[in-house]
Amino acid sequence: MATGIEVAVLPVAGMGTRMLPATKAVPKEMLPILDRPLIQYAIDEALEAGIREVVLVTARGKDSIEDHLDTAPELERTLEIRGRARELESVRATRLPPGSVVSIRQQEPLGLGHAVWCARHVVGRRPFAVLLPDDLVAGSPGCLLQMVEAWRETGGNLVAVEEVPPERTGSYGIMSPGASRGRLTEVLGLVEKPRPEEAPSRLAVIGRYILQPEVMDVLGQHRRGAGGEIQLTDAMAELIGRQPFHGFAFTGTRHDCGSVLGTTIATLALALERPDLAPAVRAWAAEHLP
Ligand code: G1P
Repeated sequence: MATGIEVAVLPVAGMGTRMLPATKAVPKEMLPILDRPLIQYAIDEALEAGIREVVLVTARGKDSIEDHLDTAPELERTLEIRGRARELESVRATRLPPGSVVSIRQQEPLGLGHAVWCARHVVGRRPFAVLLPDDLVAGSPGCLLQMVEAWRETGGNLVAVEEVPPERTGSYGIMSPGASRGRLTEVLGLVEKPRPEEAPSRLAVIGRYILQPEVMDVLGQHRRGAGGEIQLTDAMAELIGRQPFHGFAFTGTRHDCGSVLGTTIATLALALERPDLAPAVRAWAAEHLP
């Protein structure tokens, strides 16, 4: 029986074009949702799920993501001298244990599948998680921890799925569903960004995956799919029938933080969960919203 997942791949090489000009000089993963950068939500979710090695697949100009996970000696010293204990604690909480972050450059933007494949030597022959930080999944326990617990029973490959409106299938990997049991549905097929009339269902894969290392072998064939890119969805589809493969209906709310609307809603939704912010946000809304 499967035990735990040790290693997570976080693809963070994207240009963040939907968030320009904010992302001209700042990686989209470093834009804040409240007082934490987007990357922090995915990292914390991974740590909660028992992940001990984080592989960042990054790109030129995105070094601030690595800096965020490192120590900041001058800042920490200054906060200490000034007696700012709360702030100091919040900064120290972002530092990962020594040796637990590996960073790899995806030299060319050849697609999500290519980004994941860039992590193959670090992942080795272990099952691994993939978290797309753009997808902020709010809720407790976190989405990946829920998945690891389900995966202990299923083994194989497990992808988080949610229903999307029919007109949105063209933005996602869509699964063809088989038998369901509780929150698990057997995956019979996967297609990347189908037009609504061609979609096998409305069950969309969101950015949380537990995958077997064989997917790296398929990705290594560098076959191009939708949009001319090397697609993770196509490589996963090749494992169906060879290994267990399930979709997992997680509990929680997914926010698309690669878009302005998604980050706006995420900011509001998360603020309403925070005791220090919620009363003032509600008061503002009562006054300004009809
Ligand atoms: C990627 C994947 C897609 C998945 C989506 C989830 O697409 O290719 O299969 O459904 O993430 O957010 P992207 O959003 O990078 O276009």
